[in-house]
Amino acid sequence: MNINDITAENKVLHDLVLAAQRAALCAYAPYSQFTVGCALLSKNGKIYTGCNIENASYSVTLCAERVAAANAISKQDLAWDSLVVVSPQRVTTCGVCRQFLHEFAPELRIWNGFLEGLSLEGPFLLHQLLPGAMTLRPVSNPISNQ
Ligand code: THU
Repeated sequence: MNINDITAENKVLHDLVLAAQRAALCAYAPYSQFTVGCALLSKNGKIYTGCNIENASYSVTLCAERVAAANAISKQDLAWDSLVVVSPQRVTTCGVCRQFLHEFAPELRIWNGFLEGLSLEGPFLLHQLLPGAMTLRPVSNPISNQ
């Protein structure tokens, strides 16, 4: 869809796309040149952003989605509504990020777009993108886990 086409809900989607596109400008992607930006909307209306951060040891790379999520978590804002990710080609959130996000927001709505323009695909529900996500019961007393 093109978010120019739709209204109401879409003021916020519009803000998210612009925030994700701005975040992508900070991407550190010397090895792929594939710059990604992400904007995560929490249920209290705050927007947290992230960009991808690559590393000479490729597997250490952080995707934009995990950086945005870590930003929200580090503010103790753990209830999330929607996430927009933008990149040069439309990509769906990778498996590692799906698992990471699922820990906090299985119902998260994910939208995919581009570094420019307002075209978006979605929403995709995280629990549908990652059926059978790995979960654990938190321990009430950490000592009993040893
Ligand atoms: N990347 C993201 O940041 N998010 C995605 O959803 C897909 C991939 C990054 C990782 C790497 O820096 C580059 O894009 C190429 O895979």
